[in-house]
Amino acid sequence: MCVSLMLLLLVCGAQSTHFYGTVMTYYPKNTNADGSLTVVLRYKLSFHDCSTRDLWQCPSLNCGTQTSLVLNVVDQESSGEWCQREGIMTRRVPINSQFQLELTGFAWINNNNGIMFWRAVTGVELRNRSDIGQANTSPQTIILPALRVPSNCRRDFHLLDFDPDGDEVRCRYANSSLSECFDCTTPSVLSLSESCILSFSPTSSANEGPYTVQMVMEDFPRQTISLTQNGGLTVNSAISKIPVQFAVRVDPAVPSCTEGLYLPRFLTPTPANKAQLYAPVNQTLSISVNAEANVSRTLELLFSGPHNTNKSSLGAGRFLLRWTPSQEEDGESHPICFVVQSITSSTTKYQSELRCVIVTVGNEPTISTAVPSTTTPTFNYHPYNNSLNYNYSSLNNYPTDFDQQYNYTSYNHYSINNNYPTQHNNYPYTNHTNIHHFFTNDTYTNNNPTKNSRTYNNNTSNYNHRPFTNSDCSPYYYNIESIRDFYI
Ligand SMILES: *[C@@H]1O[C@H](CO)[C@@H](O)[C@H](O)[C@H]1NC(C)=O
Ligand SMILES: *[C@@H]1O[C@H](CO)[C@@H](O)[C@H](O)[C@H]1NC(C)=O
Ligand SMILES: *[C@@H]1O[C@H](CO)[C@@H](O)[C@H](O)[C@H]1NC(C)=O
Ligand SMILES: *[C@@H]1O[C@H](CO)[C@@H](O)[C@H](O)[C@H]1NC(C)=O
Ligand SMILES: *[C@@H]1O[C@H](CO)[C@@H](O)[C@H](O)[C@H]1NC(C)=O
Ligand SMILES: *[C@@H]1O[C@H](CO)[C@@H](O)[C@H](O)[C@H]1NC(C)=O
Ligand SMILES: *[C@@H]1O[C@H](CO)[C@@H](O)[C@H](O)[C@H]1NC(C)=O
Ligand SMILES: *[C@@H]1O[C@H](CO)[C@@H](O)[C@H](O)[C@H]1NC(C)=O
Ligand SMILES: *[C@@H]1O[C@H](CO)[C@@H](O)[C@H](O)[C@H]1NC(C)=O
Ligand SMILES: *[C@@H]1O[C@H](CO)[C@@H](O)[C@H](O)[C@H]1NC(C)=O
Ligand SMILES: *[C@@H]1O[C@H](CO)[C@@H](O)[C@H](O)[C@H]1NC(C)=O
Ligand SMILES: *[C@@H]1O[C@H](CO)[C@@H](O)[C@H](O)[C@H]1NC(C)=O
Repeated sequence: MCVSLMLLLLVCGAQSTHFYGTVMTYYPKNTNADGSLTVVLRYKLSFHDCSTRDLWQCPSLNCGTQTSLVLNVVDQESSGEWCQREGIMTRRVPINSQFQLELTGFAWINNNNGIMFWRAVTGVELRNRSDIGQANTSPQTIILPALRVPSNCRRDFHLLDFDPDGDEVRCRYANSSLSECFDCTTPSVLSLSESCILSFSPTSSANEGPYTVQMVMEDFPRQTISLTQNGGLTVNSAISKIPVQFAVRVDPAVPSCTEGLYLPRFLTPTPANKAQLYAPVNQTLSISVNAEANVSRTLELLFSGPHNTNKSSLGAGRFLLRWTPSQEEDGESHPICFVVQSITSSTTKYQSELRCVIVTVGNEPTISTAVPSTTTPTFNYHPYNNSLNYNYSSLNNYPTDFDQQYNYTSYNHYSINNNYPTQHNNYPYTNHTNIHHFFTNDTYTNNNPTKNSRTYNNNTSNYNHRPFTNSDCSPYYYNIESIRDFYI
């Protein structure tokens, strides 16, 4: 260890303190003719300047071959505080690979938690997942190199934690036992929750200054899955892990923590944090970011995202971020994060809250089956187009997609193809012909009289498909087993 640290010191020691952190994510791509898999790893690399170099290493020789690496500037802070670049690394790896990539170096910016050497580790898992029938994609996130908060203001940084596979994403600090950092002292003024919220509470001016944050984000399957390799391995632990490292600067106290005065406040139509946006291939997505800070002369937009995102200022706290996804990014989801920073004097900078959006490359899914509405209930329909198909002595409302789990919002009783009055099954109960959801056991119909078909009710959102077998099933999941319990 000492030897390698000495070597690093010799290699990098001439530099002043300069590192501002990194993030790495990955997407598996196509399987090649020779059976190998292409994986695209994207990383952000932040330094004081735009020219400092550092390369990700493969310590275990099983990372396949790097077929391309491009590095481009993403954004620079206006006073020259930091520069963030994006690296896009393409590797050709044996199918079913798992490997780690490491970034190490010296030195972090000066910081109150006394960290000098950096080390970041990405755990790539490309074995075939039993639940999705393909390789895992890592959580997708990014971060700005330096976030600021005045020492007297409370702030929660809700970090983006999007997972394209729908996994549960959890955050934790990097752990020295797992070699995820060299020096792992956590920032004393910040607390990190498993749900990726980094919280700062007002603190004494003695604690002002920069802190380094060295985190790990991991994706966990929501159900036990197996990863195929020599017959399969069952996992319910983390699948992949990515490093998220950056700085938080605790600045001198501000006269008021009210947003919109010193601290910039976002105005409409700035997208909400964690908003999901859609951009088809070759079509430019424009994101408007508007902010105000009444006690400020200058506002600037700082962002992180794909390197070919363009930012422009329209004046008066109005900004535009524009990104055009390419063919290679079709179907993927990429994050864009931003803050607005006010500069009241040459040394005083205040930042808005952090916001991130996730941009999914493709068309926005058409919302035809999920939006509840009482006037035109278009969600959920009877798959058959005439009443003869609805047989009260047989199954009713059989879903066309048998793998899907239906719940009460996604399954109403409205026929799109007529032969039924629009609110057919909302008619008062008189006999089996005009009511669809007659339970075989009246006991259940009385479980929740306002939410079942026995009552006169033409409000479709009141219709509850509480499974016959489980009266405690909340929020009223309507699964395939229970469908058998519904008769005309
Ligand atoms: C992954 O599993 C799915 C379903 O079992 C299978 O169709 C697919 O070919 C597998 N992919 C690879 C790369 O083995
Ligand atoms: C670090 O990882 C080790 C090994 O998995 C574990 O025992 C330990 O509790 C972890 N430490 C922290 C602070 O999470
Ligand atoms: C900032 O000034 C605008 C325009 O005068 C006003 O509408 C807004 O309420 C002010 N914001 C705050 C936080 O005082
Ligand atoms: C996007 O543009 C590229 C280059 O102009 C073109 O090759 C590709 O076919 C276009 N894709 C779509 C979906 O428009
Ligand atoms: C971004 O700016 C570059 C250079 O000015 C330009 O070539 C590119 O088309 C712009 N992209 C978008 C999405 O506006
Ligand atoms: C009714 O559905 C059947 C089978 O799903 C289909 O063949 C037929 O064309 C439909 N009739 C009308 C009028 O939509
Ligand atoms: C209704 O279902 C019963 C029992 O499954 C069956 O015997 C009958 O033929 C069905 N009637 C129609 C019109 O489909
Ligand atoms: C209900 O089902 C729809 C469609 O399957 C889904 O979009 C929605 O999230 C589900 N709602 C709940 C509460 O699970
Ligand atoms: C069932 O209700 C319908 C419509 O109200 C009516 O036409 C039919 O005669 C009723 N059948 C019986 C058996 O009561
Ligand atoms: C109907 O409900 C009663 C009372 O809860 C229960 O004893 C009986 O088993 C139920 N019948 C069926 C067919 O589930
Ligand atoms: C419900 O439907 C009945 C019968 O069609 C109608 O008279 C009543 O006005 C409706 N009520 C509401 C709240 O829509
Ligand atoms: C329908 O029922 C839901 C749930 O009880 C209620 O929130 C909603 O206001 C109702 N809508 C109408 C039009 O009565």
